Amino acid sequence: MRDKSEWNQKFCIVTGAASGIGETTFRMLLDLGASVLGLDRNEPREILKNKKFKAQAHFRKCDLSDPDQILDVFEEFKDSELKALFNVAALPSNGLSISNLSVQEWDQILNVNLRAVFLTSKYSLPLFKNNNGGCIVNVSSVHAFASMRNHSAYAASKGGVNSLTAQLALELNPLNIRVVGVAPGSIKTPMTTKDFENDKLQLEKLGFPTDGLGIGHVGEPDEIAEVLLWSASSAASFVNGTVITADAGLLARLTFE
Ligand SMILES: NC(=O)c1ccc[n+]([C@@H]2O[C@H](COP(=O)([O-])OP(=O)(O)OC[C@H]3O[C@@H](n4cnc5c(N)ncnc54)[C@H](O)[C@@H]3O)[C@@H](O)[C@H]2O)c1
Repeated sequence: MRDKSEWNQKFCIVTGAASGIGETTFRMLLDLGASVLGLDRNEPREILKNKKFKAQAHFRKCDLSDPDQILDVFEEFKDSELKALFNVAALPSNGLSISNLSVQEWDQILNVNLRAVFLTSKYSLPLFKNNNGGCIVNVSSVHAFASMRNHSAYAASKGGVNSLTAQLALELNPLNIRVVGVAPGSIKTPMTTKDFENDKLQLEKLGFPTDGLGIGHVGEPDEIAEVLLWSASSAASFVNGTVITADAGLLARLTFE
């Protein structure tokens, strides 16, 4: 990152701030001196208990599948000068085949993973105007490019995030807002590995090296949060309307072996 001081006192919003990549992004922004609003349907675990962060950390419980709850939060912060919106929250794949996947289960994933990205982006526009522009970073997934069987809702939601990223970049360019997607590979978070030591064997059986060495290995949340922060920083001023893959080479592999 070119100049870390650019985050000092700046206002940012992170969805999915109670866990995994969102929580790490929330913490890193606070470390850089930003004033950060975290949104999640769950309470945060650690961050707000830390005295050092008390003045700059805000958190609102918000169910991102509910458009009214999203609108209420953005209304509350409508006078803020927003530098960056990080759309990180998502539901994991439910692993259901299309014949077993109900309309409700499809909607549940699409509403959180895609519709909420549309809504937070839409409702953040007045806040970005107060800052004369900024950046939206949308977390996608390698599943948007290449996937496995029985992940249709999740993969489609992330494909939608990629297209929405390009669309919003076109539309919001006149407002000086860049829009960037980041597609992680396999990352060690509660979404993928609730109990990493027990899941390690399973991951290795699937061909994901867990020692941090092999191509396409399992990564740490901060390896993605760093990409999110860089994407929103002035160092990435020429990056717009595209999706950056951060997967340790996973998509370069033809097979798990
Ligand atoms: N972990 C991986 O391997 C991986 C790989 C590719 C992409 N991703 C993406 O990275 C992002 C972060 O995932 P993670 O691994 O940190 O997962 P995680 O499960 O640790 O965190 C996701 C967060 O989203 C929140 N959330 C879910 N539904 C919500 C709702 N309705 N309202 C508000 N908050 C809600 C959860 O409460 C949770 O705190 C997601 O977009 C995910 O699709 C993760």
